[in-house]
Amino acid sequence: MINGERLISRPLRWGMVGGGRTGQVGYKHRSGALRDGTYRLVAGAFDLDAARGRDFGVNLGVEADRCYDDYKELIAKETAREDGVEVVSIATPNFTHFEITKACLEAGLHVICEKPLFFTVAECDEVARLADEKGLIVGVTYGFTGHPLVHQMAAMVKKGMLGDIRIVDMQYTHGFNSGDDVGAGEALKWRTNPKTAGPTFVLGDIGTHLYYLSEVVLPDLKIEKLLCDRKAFIPTRAPLEDHATVLMHYDNGARGRLWVSSVNAGNMGSQRYRFVGSKASIEWSDAHPDQLVYEVQGEPNRILHHGMPYLEDESLAVDRMGALHTEGLGDSWANIYLWIAQAIDAKRRGDEAFLKTHHYPGIKAGTEGVRWLENCVRSADAGSSWVDFK
Ligand code: NAI
Repeated sequence: MINGERLISRPLRWGMVGGGRTGQVGYKHRSGALRDGTYRLVAGAFDLDAARGRDFGVNLGVEADRCYDDYKELIAKETAREDGVEVVSIATPNFTHFEITKACLEAGLHVICEKPLFFTVAECDEVARLADEKGLIVGVTYGFTGHPLVHQMAAMVKKGMLGDIRIVDMQYTHGFNSGDDVGAGEALKWRTNPKTAGPTFVLGDIGTHLYYLSEVVLPDLKIEKLLCDRKAFIPTRAPLEDHATVLMHYDNGARGRLWVSSVNAGNMGSQRYRFVGSKASIEWSDAHPDQLVYEVQGEPNRILHHGMPYLEDESLAVDRMGALHTEGLGDSWANIYLWIAQAIDAKRRGDEAFLKTHHYPGIKAGTEGVRWLENCVRSADAGSSWVDFK
């Protein structure tokens, strides 16, 4: 169980780029990072509007002279200080991730970046090489994969409780973009423009969460080929999609189906995962994150609750709240930030043995998300044909 006791030698000096007052995801970073005392927020370039960013930073408790106009000033001034930031989180629109990540790594700073990590696998590979040369960590905030029931699912699959995996069925949809984009806010505007969003809208925005979670639960399954069908129901969003379905063939013969959409009218937003094996199935959704449905063929269905002693050790080890209380997205983000802090701490101590077995969403997880997107776009552009997964 995680109870807030510090698991690293000292708190990391932490800065943020983006995630300002109007940003959607910034608070998730802060509530995750600040939960266990593993990070101290000491600097930021929080906003494109520098004055608003400074005002916001001061209200967060950051010294005014460490609230910067932009990330370049943050890097220059913080690396000149003895007590400057060691790690920077990037919570800005997609098109800025690569440039800011590279600049931070070149300046010797660890990075925690939003998904989709970059636009291309080539960019991911370049950053992976740079991080390796510099001995730095790149973490990626796939927020929900810190949840203890995700790790329960992974442990059950590993123990063979499902038998051979046959079907992977995933959905992440909402209806918030069902209408047209007249008067759309900033967050939707950049998401529907290929220059700022990259090659996809909902596939990258929400589909990468599904894909990474499936990699955590089913680490041994590799996609052999896939078929992606994508569409912009609101035509001004084309060539980007507001709806997509992806079919996948895995190397063990399993079949996968994934649906992402932001035009699922009336749907308030949920992720749903069903993993079907030859003996049993498991199903989990963030609409009821405390419960995991476990269905063994021929037996009454069971609902497993987070934090209960009958769960696997891997799940109980990362539980925070205990069985009587709700464990949700905020707790999951706190785990992700903790695991990345432990990786940074190990890097700092030169503890490569720890890093070999330590699990956190890092550069590989970010790269695989971008690789999956590249394959989806290649298939969709080829008239939704089956393509070999490259
Ligand atoms: P947003 O548009 O709501 O907020 C962006 C924030 O970054 C604003 O505060 C803006 O002023 C600031 N900003 C933009 N460019 C900047 C720059 N060059 N320097 C400093 N600040 C800058 O965007 P949202 O929805 O918060 O998304 C940001 C990133 O987070 C995206 O990559 C998105 O895909 C990802 N995201 C991830 C989620 C997750 O669960 N991991 C959830 C929501 C978004």
